Amino acid sequence: MKLRKVVSVIGAGNVGEHTASLLALRGLVDVRMFDLPKKDGDRTIEPVKGKAMDISQMLSALNIDGRVEGFCVTQDGDGYEAIKDSDIVIITAGFARRPGMSREDLLGKNLGIMKVAARAIRTYAPEAIVVVVTNPVDLMTFAVCKYMGEFKRVLGMAGVLDSARFKTFISKELKISPRDVHSYVIGGHGDEMVPLISISNISGIPIKDLIDQEKLQEIVKRTQFGGGEIVDLMGTSAYHAPAASVVEMVEAIVTDNKRVMPCSVYLTGEAGAYYQAEGLCVGVPVRLGNDGVEDIIKIPMTEKEREMWQKSVESVRKNVKLLEELLREGN
Ligand code: NAI
Ligand code: 2OP
Repeated sequence: MKLRKVVSVIGAGNVGEHTASLLALRGLVDVRMFDLPKKDGDRTIEPVKGKAMDISQMLSALNIDGRVEGFCVTQDGDGYEAIKDSDIVIITAGFARRPGMSREDLLGKNLGIMKVAARAIRTYAPEAIVVVVTNPVDLMTFAVCKYMGEFKRVLGMAGVLDSARFKTFISKELKISPRDVHSYVIGGHGDEMVPLISISNISGIPIKDLIDQEKLQEIVKRTQFGGGEIVDLMGTSAYHAPAASVVEMVEAIVTDNKRVMPCSVYLTGEAGAYYQAEGLCVGVPVRLGNDGVEDIIKIPMTEKEREMWQKSVESVRKNVKLLEELLREGN
């Protein structure tokens, strides 16, 4: 019998490994990690098994209970049986950005990986809630929805990360703890994402009353290019804050805490109409609980924010058209 919730992480690279480690440290769930074997000269090695073992030993050192296991899979999708019974599956497998690359450059490279992951989830854990991290995340979330034929239980992680960046910059500017900064970033996870100034506040005080316009615009720009800033510095994309953002989402789902977080979700019906983004996956605030996305919040926007939002949506829509062509061609 399964005593604890199980979270599977497909892709145990930088983001996947840190997600598994942070999840294990929270002590809430058992973790299963899946990745390809690697070549080390002539030898085939299995880093995913070593990483799982290392995390298990870290738990012992810290007196934390929890099972962490690693499994090797193939690019064709063999080896995923252990996904069975997972409550949540996180997809981080795929290529990351290098300097000069946009998230969209990753589209063709990562689509095939989503197809295989979605098939494995449909086969072994069809009831699982799926959190997509792989970039370009709004498109990969859309692709996983299509491959799985499931539009409610699939959500993409980006808004929590972008909001954390926005919060960090506001907190540093005002020398106030990020815990007292309340702010959201919505829209596509691209350079046109929408940091919402109008509703951002410090314990209820609007940030526009605390930070001058010019500085605020600088913070907005820095947030929009926050991922690229780290790619330029590190030579690869961020993973500590992304992993922590996934863990916040998983914790909300597992503990049913009903927190509101911006996530990329398939928009339809009333929410699709409010956000003018029918049939797309884009980041909007949602209430998370045991059932995954339990509600989509219609957040108010100023006229200027609505314009920014529409620009961001148009850019996702344009890329979805490209993606749909690839899907039609049988990718
Ligand atoms: P990474 O290169 O460190 O790890 C990717 C892992 O995926 C590798 O271990 C690789 O072996 C594995 N992998 C590749 N093909 C696979 C397959 N067919 N089956 C199973 N595993 C496979 O990259 P990193 O930094 O972990 O980033 C992963 C993805 O997450 C990238 O696409 C990146 O752009 C994205 N990302 C998205 C963020 C977001 O906010 N949504 C934030 C940070 C990263
Ligand atoms: C980030 O924003 C690369 O999407 C990733 O850090």
